[in-house]
Amino acid sequence: MTKKGFIFDLDGVIVDTAKYHFLAWKKLAHSIGVDFTEEQNEQLKGVSRVRSLEKILEWGNKTLSEDEFMKLMGLKNDDYLSFINNMGTSEILPDVTKTLDYLVEKKQAIALGSASKNATPILRKVELLDRFAAIVDGNDVSKAKPDPEVFLIGAKLLNINPEDCIVFEDSVAGVQAANAAHMIAIGIGEAHVLHEADYVFKDFTEMSQAFLEDLISGKINK
Ligand code: BG6
Ligand code: MG
Repeated sequence: MTKKGFIFDLDGVIVDTAKYHFLAWKKLAHSIGVDFTEEQNEQLKGVSRVRSLEKILEWGNKTLSEDEFMKLMGLKNDDYLSFINNMGTSEILPDVTKTLDYLVEKKQAIALGSASKNATPILRKVELLDRFAAIVDGNDVSKAKPDPEVFLIGAKLLNINPEDCIVFEDSVAGVQAANAAHMIAIGIGEAHVLHEADYVFKDFTEMSQAFLEDLISGKINK
């Protein structure tokens, strides 16, 4: 059987943590007198913590000293972690575990490719850490999505050629990163938002086993 590399983004693909990022950023933005909407939160999906705060400051026309900037980043993460600490397996998105287990059963290579620096504790919380042969997260990359670095490192760790990798992503930047890495980009979310993806599904419940089989066999390619 062919072996492919399956690289999963974390936030918005495996777990619905976007709501926690939103709550934490909103609290922080309000604390410095900046308004923050859910539409703006959309634009922070897949974006690193540093870049997210930079964007919020741009939207609010604020400048901060480096010390204040670092302090706010810490406060946001502490707040975010207070939500994460209460997470459990019920917060895994629909049919994610089923998909991972199917790929494990088919002896496929599975990696995580996330911008988050909290990826490992989150996977541990939702008891999925053991499904991944490699974890690449915000601690391992020097260039953020849409740069392909995160996925290329993932492919390397899996020992699979980038052209034989498939990426699951919910963010525009992540889909662009997968395309730049010459991997099959599968969008999880809205087709009109993720129109640069090769295929888009609302969630994993919409993805048939036949589709996964075709990815594994190479019947579906870029
Ligand atoms: C991405 C999220 O996966 O990780 C972003 O979509 C988040 O919203 C980024 O800002 C960084 O995450 P963290 O956990 O390191 O702050
Ligand atoms: Mg995401």
